[in-house]
Amino acid sequence: MASDHPWWRTAVGYQIYPRSFCDTTGNGIGDLDGILRHLDHIVDLGVDALWLSPFFRSPMADYGYDVADFCDVDPLFGDLATFDTLVREAHGHGLRVIIDWVPNHTSDEHPWFRASRSSKDDPKRGWYVWRDAAPDGGPPNNWIESLTFGPAWTFDERTGQYYLHCFLPQQPDLDWSNPEVVEAMEHTLRFWLDRGVDGFRMDVVHLIGKDPALPDEPPEVAGLPHTILNDRPETHAHLRRLRSLLDSYEGDRMAVGEVYLLDTDLVAAHYGDNDELHLCFNFPPLYAPWDADEWRKQITSTAAALDPRNAWPTWVLSNHDNPRHRTRYGGDERIARAAAVLLLSLRGTPFLFAGEEFGLQDADVPEDRRHDPAGRDGCRAPVPWTAKSPHGWATGDPWLPWPPEPDRANPEAQRDEPSSILSLYRRMLRLRRDRSALTIGNQHLHLNTGRALIFDRFTNDETITVAINMSDLETEVDIAGTLLLSSDPARMRHRLDGRLAPYEAVVVSAD
Ligand code: GLC
Repeated sequence: MASDHPWWRTAVGYQIYPRSFCDTTGNGIGDLDGILRHLDHIVDLGVDALWLSPFFRSPMADYGYDVADFCDVDPLFGDLATFDTLVREAHGHGLRVIIDWVPNHTSDEHPWFRASRSSKDDPKRGWYVWRDAAPDGGPPNNWIESLTFGPAWTFDERTGQYYLHCFLPQQPDLDWSNPEVVEAMEHTLRFWLDRGVDGFRMDVVHLIGKDPALPDEPPEVAGLPHTILNDRPETHAHLRRLRSLLDSYEGDRMAVGEVYLLDTDLVAAHYGDNDELHLCFNFPPLYAPWDADEWRKQITSTAAALDPRNAWPTWVLSNHDNPRHRTRYGGDERIARAAAVLLLSLRGTPFLFAGEEFGLQDADVPEDRRHDPAGRDGCRAPVPWTAKSPHGWATGDPWLPWPPEPDRANPEAQRDEPSSILSLYRRMLRLRRDRSALTIGNQHLHLNTGRALIFDRFTNDETITVAINMSDLETEVDIAGTLLLSSDPARMRHRLDGRLAPYEAVVVSAD
């Protein structure tokens, strides 16, 4: 791989939600040792970087996105020594390690917030956003929080003011206009950088700069959560400073921001002039239906927004906040296979969500087993590792029910099966590593190709064409060359015949 490309441009990320990955202690909750246990699987799969969702001390009101100590591991997951081992072992296997960093808010049990709420005169009062009630006694403005769509303000009896929380009341927003907050949060970044992490996935990082006047949302968007509306110049100033901090470390440390603005042009601005975030998640494609016209639009708008800035795209179909894409697209394994080819061949850095490589679907979670106030339990179902119960976990009774078909949708059942979806992911990831057109190559989208989505990836030396039949009808395609891969295990002839089977995706070398 050409070395003038930073690792995060050619890498494939692999998201681990530690709570659901693998439990080694028998409490039904995944842990860091469980990740260590499956590093071989991850290496063998062929991804390049782990992204670990929060494992910090937390009362778990939002399953770790409510952090009570940014610089320690919650005992549920292990300890700092185990984390250090994990980083060392991952690095030993050539894997980068990115961790989640949650800058917009803390837990209400964080010592900073406890101090802040204790009195109006506490030195930490100004670390959070406190305001008097509106004249009618209600919240200071009409902002809505993102998880239950209630008001983004909670009244605190003790000091008679409201505090702001763009998520749950247990997640008070920090006030980043306060330089002491900036310094304290930069300290938390340094803590992990000094321990050797390669970067951060920055949680709702576009939220850290806020309009100091905290004005009401305009009537036409009142009722939408503030998170998807907060687009502020203050954020860009913070991002530039965070970027300089990362750049002051050796070794290409990076930040991928969760910029939850549902307009790719607005997301693009958070790359700055190559001086803000290295990468941004872009969610409109995740919300797009499985439809060739829709995907042509997404690919076009992504390129239009990012290319002029020389900003590098990311692609993600599943994560811990949304139903898994196989489930969203209706459950058909053929679509999940074609989606793997799409995700791993578009120009940009893809992120997989652990388990998608063996076709995991969302669990059906009965009402009495639901945990998440925002209804995201299904995609957080435990990951099965073996065919027989307890599927490689230390208990058969994990914190959420198993996903469908755990006896089939696991690496043990699929590893040695050439036609399995896991084998397809491995082949596709190997192809990416072998063919630089698929990583650093340019991209050319074919237009007017009907039910098939077709694009080329090319360098000066090679052109690779990817064609994906996004429909359930056989489709004619006008492409030629050597077949490198098909998502359809039935295509044994290893040659093209001008037709794609329903939901078949192929990767073709032009020769
Ligand atoms: C992000 C996380 C989500 C969390 C929220 C608040 O969107 O991905 O899981 O609930 O931020 O931290």
